[in-house]
Order: sequence, then structure tokens, then C-alpha cells
Amino acid sequence: MIFDIITIFPHIIEEYITQGIVRIAQEKGAVEINIHDLRKWTDDAHKSVDDTPYGGGPGMVMKIEPIYKALEELKTPNSIVCITTPKGEQLKQSKVKEFSQVKDAHYIIICGRYEGVDQRVHENLVDFEFSIGEYILSGGELAALVLVDGITRLLPGVLGNEKSLESESFDNNEELDYPQYTKPEVFNKWKVPEVLLSGHHENIDEWRRKKKVN
Ligand code: ADE
Repeated sequence: MIFDIITIFPHIIEEYITQGIVRIAQEKGAVEINIHDLRKWTDDAHKSVDDTPYGGGPGMVMKIEPIYKALEELKTPNSIVCITTPKGEQLKQSKVKEFSQVKDAHYIIICGRYEGVDQRVHENLVDFEFSIGEYILSGGELAALVLVDGITRLLPGVLGNEKSLESESFDNNEELDYPQYTKPEVFNKWKVPEVLLSGHHENIDEWRRKKKVN
């Protein structure tokens, strides 16, 4: 699987993808993640990626030309072009899972910004517009990373523990996972539930079933 992320803040993306599970997934060859500075596709001295809105109003709007050129260079027949926007489809685990199962997928993610992206990008250049929740962020970088992380950890061999994915939150009938504890048994007088220390697997399974929140 390949991700190409187009952003005006490449360092934000860089920092995240060189840590944790996402870094390991790249090392294992499960995923390739390329970061692209949108300014690479500008041709004016100021490397402008945005301009004032037609019709007036506050804020700046991301220009179509650099995005168009970026896609011209990066797109392949397998590409699914995604853009972050608070107006997009709210990302769910079911969609993340579906995306993780697409064979030889190539996701191009355009990080938008809240003030807006020229509407012609949305209407003509993009396959999937997504939001990560009903709140407004200043830019799409966090949303792009949510998509990359959510998909990457589901790829075969990445977590090294496929079992842990089976019982996972939001998957089976939207269930949430049961509460987890680890050592020490008592901390500040707060105790681990007795049943988890009992070694009685049936009782433990029953307790966990009850504790799952639907
Ligand atoms: N850009 C700004 N807010 C966003 C959100 N909630 N989801 C995705 N992209 C965004």
C-alpha cells in the first residue's frame, strides 16, 4: 500500500510517521508513505499555494493549480484521491477497514485547510472527502494522519497480533472493548477487579462480556 500526502506542513506529517506502529509498518514493507510539500508545484517567486476568495470575505483559499499539478505527477491507475474537509463523510472504522483491504491501493491525501480549497478541486479532482469529526481544525494534517494510522495498523503483519484486532472496539456490532488493567494490582488503594486475578477464564470472559459497552 502506498500513501502520498500533499501538505503545506510536511514536518507535521514527518514527525508522526517516523514513530511507533506507522514507522514499524514502513520498516516491515507493509506500507510506503511519501510526503510532498505542495509548494513544490508552484511557479511564482513566493511559492503561493493560496489566494483571496472571489466574491470577497475573510481568509485565504487554496489554489487549484498546484494541487492539479501534484495530482498529474502522482496519480496512477490505482489512485484514490482523498481530501480532508470538515464537510466530508465522517470517517468510521468500517471505512478504514474497507480501505485497508483494497489490493495494491494507492491513496493520495490532500491536506486541506479550513478556510477552504477551491471548490473545483472538490468537484473535479477528488474521489473521497472525509472529516474526522464535528469540529473545526486549522488544517487537514491531523485528519490525514488519522486515516494513515487507522489503515496502516490493520495491514497484515503490522501489529503482529491479529487476535487483538478481532475483539477490537467498533468492529463487531459497534462494541467497545472491555476495560484493561496491568501491574500493579493496587495503586493508590485502587484495585484491579478480583475476577481478573482469579485465573478462572470462564468468569473472566463473562465479566469482560458484561463490561463491553454497546
Ligand atoms: N479540516 C478542518 N477540520 C477538519 C475535520 N474535522 N476533519 C477533517 N478535516 C478537517
